[in-house]
Amino acid sequence: MDHFLYRNGSLHAEDVALSEIAAAVGTPFYCYSAATLTRHYQLFTEALSPMPHLVCFAIKSLSNIAVLKLLGDLGAGMDVVSGGEYRRALAAGVSPDKIVFSGVGKTAEEMQLALTHGIRQFNVESEPELRALSAVAVALGKIAPITIRVNPDVDAKTHEKIATGKKENKFGIPINRAVEVYAEAAALPNLQIVGIDVHIGSQLTELEPFEQAYKKVAELTETLRAQGHSITRLDLGGGLGIPYERSNSAPPLPREYGALIQRTLGHLGCEIEIEPGRLISGNSGVLVSKVIYVKNGEDRDFLILDAAMNDLVRPSMYGAHHDILPVIEAEAATEAQSYDVVGPVCETGDTFAKARPLPPLQADDLVAFRSAGAYGAVMASEYNTRPLIPEVLVRGDQFAVIRARPSYEEILNRDSIPTWL
Ligand code: LLP
Repeated sequence: MDHFLYRNGSLHAEDVALSEIAAAVGTPFYCYSAATLTRHYQLFTEALSPMPHLVCFAIKSLSNIAVLKLLGDLGAGMDVVSGGEYRRALAAGVSPDKIVFSGVGKTAEEMQLALTHGIRQFNVESEPELRALSAVAVALGKIAPITIRVNPDVDAKTHEKIATGKKENKFGIPINRAVEVYAEAAALPNLQIVGIDVHIGSQLTELEPFEQAYKKVAELTETLRAQGHSITRLDLGGGLGIPYERSNSAPPLPREYGALIQRTLGHLGCEIEIEPGRLISGNSGVLVSKVIYVKNGEDRDFLILDAAMNDLVRPSMYGAHHDILPVIEAEAATEAQSYDVVGPVCETGDTFAKARPLPPLQADDLVAFRSAGAYGAVMASEYNTRPLIPEVLVRGDQFAVIRARPSYEEILNRDSIPTWL
């Protein structure tokens, strides 16, 4: 459920008409609902309530500091994968002891940053990283709390570009080498083992791959404890999928996911950490765009929008589906038309949808892409020198621009011409 609904025939974000925001900030723009963000975060905390837990929002899915503050104020921890995201979490007022640091390529500078300001744990992904972290911690005279990310070799049954838990993927250490690598970690100075980490992929629409992975983690917990390691936290990653197509069957609910965690891992008495991104942010955001032209091609009609692949790359990068709604609701009796929905960028890949049934639309009409809150704004670029589009947050009947559209001057001033040219 989200808070983007028609009222009197006009699509609203909570109590604000999207057309009103469009008039105030121009198109295209991203719009997020505070109520939906809150509700989705709370679904997870409720699902895990029988166990000690921390829900760490995966900042990579939606990193605006206002959104992080909203979630942080509700009690969320944060999962960061770069020094930049770590800085965003701090800027949002999140306590460092609620920040976990993931990622296969943490640099010494990023380790220093996090050790200096504080960190809940590093999720270490390789032996060279263990050694590097130990060296940085020794140099700073700090203790680095760690988990080691294990790769359980399970098929997440998701898009190949976002599956991470198979042995051919670059993530984690093979689970069958975990005993050896934990022994090395225990022997290195200034590292403190606190648990195990696993994340098998994103947009999972079944529970079974999670179940396979978590059973392996349960077994490993017992093995490592028998060897004297203190395993008090299990970081289970993110990955629970969302319904991108309302017409399709729905992925499992957080409640069912929580029950699975309890069933497979509850008996170990560990604190459970999860790192959901998409399920919290995905359906909390829409991308609103305006029709520039309707172009009648030889065998199809093109809906040419003012948003493009640089604003929302998921359809061209993953072939992802996003539902598209007219902001002004069509009359019930209106017959749908078929459109190829495209942006103005100069490549054929700049296509949002092919043969999409939509009510008849014309220039200046507004449309909204649903489920665009996750991996939308954060993956945007300025390709074709198109300014990054604004982000707007709605709460009840109020809205605010939480990231402004840059001016062309700001964009051009970032380049410089060498004196010798
Ligand atoms: N934790 C780790 C270590 C991750 O790598 C990810 C996502 C998450 C948590 C959050 O996963 P989520 O709950 O959002 O599924 N750009 C792609 C998705 C890439 C996901 C990368 N890692 C997309 O647009 O579908």
